Amino acid sequence: MSTNILGIETSCDETAAAVVRDGREVVSNVIYTQIPTHTLYGGVVPEIASREHVLKINQVIKKALEDAELTWDDIDAIAVTYGPGLVGPLLIGVSTAKALAYAKNIPLVGVNHIEGHISANYLGAAGTDPIAPKYMCLVASGGHSHIVRVDDYTEYTIIGRTHDDAAGEAFDKVARAIGLGYPGGPKVDKLAREGNPNAIEFPRASVGDSPYDFSFSGIKSAVLNYLNGAEMKGIEVNKADVAASFQMAVIDVLADHTIQAALDYNMKTVALAGGVAANSLLRETMKERAEAKGLRFHCPELIYCTDNGAMIAAAGYHEYKAGRRADLYLNAIPNLKIGER
Ligand code: KG4
Ligand code: ZN
Repeated sequence: MSTNILGIETSCDETAAAVVRDGREVVSNVIYTQIPTHTLYGGVVPEIASREHVLKINQVIKKALEDAELTWDDIDAIAVTYGPGLVGPLLIGVSTAKALAYAKNIPLVGVNHIEGHISANYLGAAGTDPIAPKYMCLVASGGHSHIVRVDDYTEYTIIGRTHDDAAGEAFDKVARAIGLGYPGGPKVDKLAREGNPNAIEFPRASVGDSPYDFSFSGIKSAVLNYLNGAEMKGIEVNKADVAASFQMAVIDVLADHTIQAALDYNMKTVALAGGVAANSLLRETMKERAEAKGLRFHCPELIYCTDNGAMIAAAGYHEYKAGRRADLYLNAIPNLKIGER
């Protein structure tokens, strides 16, 4: 007997629902992205995000079931993101999931958004070689940058964290400074391909005495200073070189700290997760450097790196199997931590 989990995700600017079988096989995956709306404002406007979620959530869930060719009777549990994220958007997903669980009498499971990103690594076609704990995972998104030791499917230990900006946030801010618009990550990624990563030496910051922690505000400030300096001297900057050099500085730190953590904690596998894991150079660099040290490298398919419902269903499957259930008092927790319940 297979287990079908419906995953619902509304923590930021994607209204998403998916059906995943046995924590692995994606049966349907529906994502309504609000990016075009928020682009007008240069970033996510929480109130507008909440309204868009309200407008779209029912259609998105209906389509996830239709695409899967399943009915409510086939769904074993509903998994929903309850944090971290924007409180208004989170509440739309949580309230919808609770209403459906109650009306259809289906078990409800609350999922941590970051643990969802990590669980995207389990999604794959049946018959392919799956990744399994333990492994060291770099989670880098718009709101988070962590090195997480995945001890088991539902057990996590934070090994490293950012002291200031998240990696994705740095990409977004630098993109804005060089006039690329929102969301910046994919645009920097693309422009950097035309630039020289060694053109400008931006700092590779380490923080305090933890070899695994990050700081990205220094790199971001160095880019802004470089741009201001050039403007004052009337020098025209090569934006592709700025994008490539900035991206290389961030990736050097992300890759080296994660691989060091994997080696120091005797892990055999390193993995990537979160929106920044969609970055083409980060994927290549991590693979090369991990394999050079004898580590296995894994990253989710591109579509499962940025926010989606399938990753929430994958994480929800393991929570469900571990016997964890949410009740109708489930609330949104905007600052929910990894491993916290
Ligand atoms: O995981 P995600 O969709 O949402 C959060 O949970 O935050 O991540 C979005 C972040 C944004 O900061 C975006 O600029 C970044 O991921 N991102 C990228 C790329 N694609 C998305 N950053 C670098 N390169 C990319 N290709
Ligand atoms: Zn996310």
